[in-house]
Amino acid sequence: MSSSDITTGQWKEVIGVLEDVLPYYEKFNAMNTLGQLGRWRGMAARLATEEDTVLEIGPGSGGFASSLRCGELYCLDPSTRILEYTKKRLDGEHKHFVGGIAENLPFNNDKFDIVYCIFSFRDFMSKETGLRETMRVLKKGGKLCIVDVSIPEDGLLKSLVNVHIYRIAPRLSSLAFPTDRRRMWIEKQYPEFLHTLETFGKASQYPELMVDLGYSEVDMKLLFGRSAFILTGVK
Ligand SMILES: C[S@@+](CC[C@H](N)C(=O)[O-])C[C@H]1O[C@@H](n2cnc3c(N)ncnc32)[C@H](O)[C@@H]1O
Repeated sequence: MSSSDITTGQWKEVIGVLEDVLPYYEKFNAMNTLGQLGRWRGMAARLATEEDTVLEIGPGSGGFASSLRCGELYCLDPSTRILEYTKKRLDGEHKHFVGGIAENLPFNNDKFDIVYCIFSFRDFMSKETGLRETMRVLKKGGKLCIVDVSIPEDGLLKSLVNVHIYRIAPRLSSLAFPTDRRRMWIEKQYPEFLHTLETFGKASQYPELMVDLGYSEVDMKLLFGRSAFILTGVK
């Protein structure tokens, strides 16, 4: 197990929190990212064309998937509750909702033009197994796109981001919840939600891992004071 991986118990805890906060997710994530959410998702969405067969791993409440213009869209998630929520928001032709985990994708080889992991990669129990699986299901020349937040590795920005995530964000994002749920968010759910960010480690290790696994044209753009990134690679 690599240090960036999480145990099944920790993972189930995170999924439980995500299920519980679904109706508030879009609002609190916009607050946590200080309004950057739409911009980062937009950068990723622009990679898809209307002909592409696309997989989004971990659609959450469907915010990113609903902004995508593509051909067939597959949304994969381990949580039936999350899939049902997304389905209500997105249902339509050319949309497919599939149960499963990134580490064992229930798809044939060489199926997708693009695989997206938007704020879901850091929740993977095993990052390496997930990256091997995305490689397997991509067509030759297909693209993997990961967007996530991360803590800068050093310097003043690291201190500023730490102040934000530990002091400002829990209270600010609690405003997305009804008054009687705010305390539970700040004291219990937010710390559980944060866990996978804490174990994620240095963002710079992931382009290296992708190169080792055989991805080409690997490119990482750091965003918003190195507190987030968009990472792409081609099969
Ligand atoms: C924070 S939400 C991301 C929501 C959405 N993509 C967005 O743009 O905001 C993380 C999603 O990843 C899913 N997820 C977590 N671990 C996963 C895994 N190992 N395999 C597949 N999906 C996973 C969660 O169930 C959840 O739907």
